[in-house]
Amino acid sequence: MAETSDLGLSVAATAPASPAASARSGAAPNPARTATPSSLAGASAASSPPDERGAATELLFPTGVRADELPDCAQLPPVRKRQFTVTGHVREVRVRRTAPIGRRVRVNERDVLLLRHRDRVVAVGASCPHQAGDLSLGDLEELPGGSLCVTCPVHAWRFDATPSAPPEWRGRCLSHPHAEAVLDLVPATVDPDSGLVSVGFKSMARELFAAPDF
Ligand code: FES
Repeated sequence: MAETSDLGLSVAATAPASPAASARSGAAPNPARTATPSSLAGASAASSPPDERGAATELLFPTGVRADELPDCAQLPPVRKRQFTVTGHVREVRVRRTAPIGRRVRVNERDVLLLRHRDRVVAVGASCPHQAGDLSLGDLEELPGGSLCVTCPVHAWRFDATPSAPPEWRGRCLSHPHAEAVLDLVPATVDPDSGLVSVGFKSMARELFAAPDF
């Protein structure tokens, strides 16, 4: 999978998603467009560096999800809490989430997790690249310097989810930099008028061509 984008990131799409693709994503067709800086239900617009990966060739697929429907991960309770042990020491323990931190959607035959951190919307593969943990029960946080980081709930590996990160760092595991597991990042853009999130792929999934409604 590819990368993510900040809300308002200029992600250009040159070709529309097909009707079949729209149908498979479960959302109304969304004409391809070039996203322009936008604001999210009262949040200020974020300006982001241009896409370095040549997103102009991405096919945009509608998700049917509005950005302001996504929980703001910046407002969620932390996944760690301090706890006293019986010996009086303090330790940090992980808190298991019971509610998803974003919306999982099926787009272009891929399970994609849409996440929001304040006015930034990012899209990632829904499963952890390590051992397929459910990232919707993990965490999305902003690191000093503005980077975004996704934490898996299973082994707490942290992955860079910054859209503008250099290619060699995009999706990399921050906990184990030499690990081969790399987070799937999907370009995401928000329609400035409707607030609907679309995600981009380089090509349509092969399975879509075999769909009866194609
Ligand atoms: S399954 Fe995600 S860190 Fe291990």
